[in-house]
Amino acid sequence: MSYNAIVLQQYPEALIDDETFATQSFNEQPLQQGEFRVQVSHLSLDPAMRGWVSPDPSSYIPPVQLGEVMRSLGFGVVTESLNENYPVGTQVTGMTGWTEQLIAKEGELSIVPQSVDAEMALSVLGMPGLTAYLGYHDILQAQQRQTQSQQVSELQNGKPQTIVVTGAAGAVGSVVVQMAVADGLRVVALAGSEDKVRWLKDELGVDAAINYKTDNVAEALTEATPDGIDLFFENTGGEAQHTVIERMNPHGKVAVCGLIADYHSATPAPAPSWINLIKRRATIEGFVITDHFYRAQELAAGIMPYLQQGKIQSRTHVLEGLEAAKAGVNMLYSGDNTGKLIVKL
Ligand SMILES: NC(=O)c1ccc[n+]([C@@H]2O[C@H](COP(=O)([O-])OP(=O)(O)OC[C@H]3O[C@@H](n4cnc5c(N)ncnc54)[C@H](OP(=O)(O)O)[C@@H]3O)[C@@H](O)[C@H]2O)c1
Repeated sequence: MSYNAIVLQQYPEALIDDETFATQSFNEQPLQQGEFRVQVSHLSLDPAMRGWVSPDPSSYIPPVQLGEVMRSLGFGVVTESLNENYPVGTQVTGMTGWTEQLIAKEGELSIVPQSVDAEMALSVLGMPGLTAYLGYHDILQAQQRQTQSQQVSELQNGKPQTIVVTGAAGAVGSVVVQMAVADGLRVVALAGSEDKVRWLKDELGVDAAINYKTDNVAEALTEATPDGIDLFFENTGGEAQHTVIERMNPHGKVAVCGLIADYHSATPAPAPSWINLIKRRATIEGFVITDHFYRAQELAAGIMPYLQQGKIQSRTHVLEGLEAAKAGVNMLYSGDNTGKLIVKL
């Protein structure tokens, strides 16, 4: 029996193109003791993939090697097993790669409860959701709005914190804004289309949504944040940074999660002046979720109350078939996805 996988054929110079990946057929190999075979049903497409197919060795994770199966998170079901901890039928997730099947060993993939489906396991309860929760809860330390009487004593001037979220209609950003709306913060969201802005306002309930492609970002942000900005969840880079740092309240916090606007440029855009960090005694912290995967269960447990109370809706953008992964990644850079981009095999 054979199966298909997509390997890295050539490092792209700019956007991923037709030459970047190639599909290869592999023969199934017999299992060794302790191993189990996984039929992969869903793949996750993530902005970080552009960095993974760059030969730069200085990032937080080594580049994918030429000829290697493309690195990717995925979800599948055990179809054959010589490991009693992963019986046939077990749902698993982790770094499957862009392949229809793989052989794994103990600890290489996480078991997913039967009550959680593939799309949820790759979105809200997967890497993007954990990233959102870590940045929002641990790094920004967002303060849940308390009862009316507590607000006056605990929150600045009795007002809720104001959070600005870029990439707000994406996999990570949409979870951040929904937690913040649920917690009673004033939420200002930036996204790149009218449809996304409408979804953020009408369905997710943000206080203000800005189309960074068509609105005057500085003016719109100023108008949307009359009490200044306490928290900034940065997913994209771009001009909003400058206004946010100028409008930061004392002891404001910035969580730098992603800078997708810079992933294809040789020279990153100039950052705001640091002078305001001193004036506002502000904190900026970059983070990568892979450093925190050992806390995955704890982080997922933090998201659960929002899910159980119906405060977070999971939105996925699903492409069909292994081949769709190759060009599909570029949708993340053009903004053609809304919510978590997934390939269903
Ligand atoms: N630090 C970590 O551990 C970690 C983990 C996961 C993700 N991330 C980062 O978090 C960010 C969001 O990731 P995601 O998985 O949730 O992706 P996503 O938001 O679902 O998809 C990417 C979105 O980025 C926006 N975008 C693309 N080019 C842009 C540009 N030049 N300027 C502004 N926005 C642009 C597009 O939305 P618009 O239509 O709104 O432009 C696109 O839909 C990415 O930067 C990613 O690298 C970091």
